[in-house]
Amino acid sequence: MDAIITIHDLSKVYRVGHEKVRALSHINLQIGRGEICCILGTSGSGKSTLLNQLAGLEKPTSGSVRIGKTNISRLSEDQLAGFRQRNIGFVFQSYNLIASMSALENVAMPLLFRGMPRMVRDREAAQMLKKVGLGNRINHKPSEMSGGQQQRVGIARAFVAKPKIVFADEPTGNLDSHTTLEVMKLLIEMSHQNNITFVLVTHDNELARYADRIITIRDGLLVGDERNESPAYLEQAREESASTKHIPADAGQGLCAEAEQAGEQRDAFQPPDEKTFASIPQEKEKENKADENETTV
Ligand SMILES: Nc1ncnc2c1ncn2[C@@H]1O[C@H](COP(=O)(O)OP(=O)(O)OP(=O)(O)O)[C@@H](O)[C@H]1O
Ligand SMILES: [Mg+2]
Repeated sequence: MDAIITIHDLSKVYRVGHEKVRALSHINLQIGRGEICCILGTSGSGKSTLLNQLAGLEKPTSGSVRIGKTNISRLSEDQLAGFRQRNIGFVFQSYNLIASMSALENVAMPLLFRGMPRMVRDREAAQMLKKVGLGNRINHKPSEMSGGQQQRVGIARAFVAKPKIVFADEPTGNLDSHTTLEVMKLLIEMSHQNNITFVLVTHDNELARYADRIITIRDGLLVGDERNESPAYLEQAREESASTKHIPADAGQGLCAEAEQAGEQRDAFQPPDEKTFASIPQEKEKENKADENETTV
């Protein structure tokens, strides 16, 4: 497997007063590039804790997390922030959009951190909003959108800078069942189209069926790791093909070809030149300097 995430003997213990809470115990795991994978478990099993360690939002108590060749457990907070900006996208249960900003401004944020000029940011963000079906809502603030629409903005923001990995913690937790299916489909499509590794955290067995691989944790222990031979998105693609009277046998293969092509296009992407960086705010420039030894994965 071409692993993008490698976890070695990972444990996390929280201290609460004099008590110790062992949230994760000796987890070993590899996640491959482009994999659509789900971390499944009941409430309190340690899913969010695991995701937080994988994404470098928290430091493990012991063990290590590697993303590509970088041992992120060894990075300083500044380096981690830069590393996340370059490589990782997040989708949150409660959307985490900035209330005072429009959909366009929210989606453009990760591109600002990448140092792109305003015109490019606005163009890319508008395109992304169109892709998630919100081309007619770009000037709306979060409070002027439904929950499903806000989560679409959240998805557009997570994918706009073509990160290598997108993490989603219960991304449909606040949505009704119909919107949940739409949002799941969108997340999987976006990941496939851009050959992005997608890690979904959920307690919901039905949602786990969307993933190619289901990793189960219980009481902080990894207790299951299975391939899902017929992920729900392929079943849906077949059903849709059948309903439009196309032959369903190779449904889903087009997704892979598209993903490969997108991967090539992404690899060919060149970062903006020096002149472009003239438009980055001072503090961002400092941040970029602090991280310049850390490569993308
Ligand atoms: N910051 C913290 N300080 C102390 N204990 C914590 C902290 N974060 C999580 N825990 C504990 O670690 C365990 C795992 O919590 P975690 O949030 O990872 O569960 P979860 O599987 O994401 O649950 P849920 O589905 O309810 O979100 C729980 O027992 C929780 O109380
Ligand atoms: Mg959680």
